[in-house]
Amino acid sequence: MDKTGKKEPRMILALDLETTDEALDFLRRWGKRIKYVKIGPGLFAQGGTDFITRLREDGRKIFLDLKLHDIPNTVAEAVKFLSSKGIWAITLHTSGGRPMMESAVRARKDKSTLLFGVTVLTSLDSTSWDEVHPGCSINDALAKRAKIAVESGMDGIVCSPRELAMFNRDPYFGLLKIVPGIRPADYEMFDDQRRTSTPSFAAEGGADFVVVGRPVTRAEDPGRIIDTILRDLRR
Ligand code: C5P
Repeated sequence: MDKTGKKEPRMILALDLETTDEALDFLRRWGKRIKYVKIGPGLFAQGGTDFITRLREDGRKIFLDLKLHDIPNTVAEAVKFLSSKGIWAITLHTSGGRPMMESAVRARKDKSTLLFGVTVLTSLDSTSWDEVHPGCSINDALAKRAKIAVESGMDGIVCSPRELAMFNRDPYFGLLKIVPGIRPADYEMFDDQRRTSTPSFAAEGGADFVVVGRPVTRAEDPGRIIDTILRDLRR
């Protein structure tokens, strides 16, 4: 907890491994200090809700990051089913719009399953953003999408560490923030992420959770990187 009484962010490990067996093996070896795990479309397609149940039996909290984006009825059906499976949090893409988010909030079976709205992918820089959204800045889109998420009754948003500061004021108070694009200071690999920053920057910016994948799963010594990230989040 810092001087203002705010808790340090929790770490979510993105299990972006090739197979569910590989993911379970990774957690057996390195997952002692990991409570929250992110399941994406790859592992969910392979293991479905059985895989989720298996992880829950090990005491993990599941962040199911499918970034649902479809017409309201289709997304509502998915949320109705998924929110009955003991999942900690599910993502929708805010670009699906207000009616989609509102109907997802209404369809949720179990209110303890949180709904998070992805704002703008952390892999997009301003050039690739402009190609698909000409005439609108990333920051304008972020501000508007997050506001609609609040008004629709969503529990939180997913945003990059660089943009956290804009969500520490009205009307975003109380909105939980999950932050991917986290790269330890000495991380040297160049990959697809563009709007990145360090764990301590995200913690100072007010992240509630940080998502980290490859810096841990592709490390020579994942245990050491997990320790370093957890220490940086506490600072
Ligand atoms: O390996 P890396 O640390 O880049 O993993 C980040 C994870 O966060 C990935 O699983 C990715 O799907 C997810 N994510 C993201 N940007 C978003 C939302 C989710 O990188 N806006």
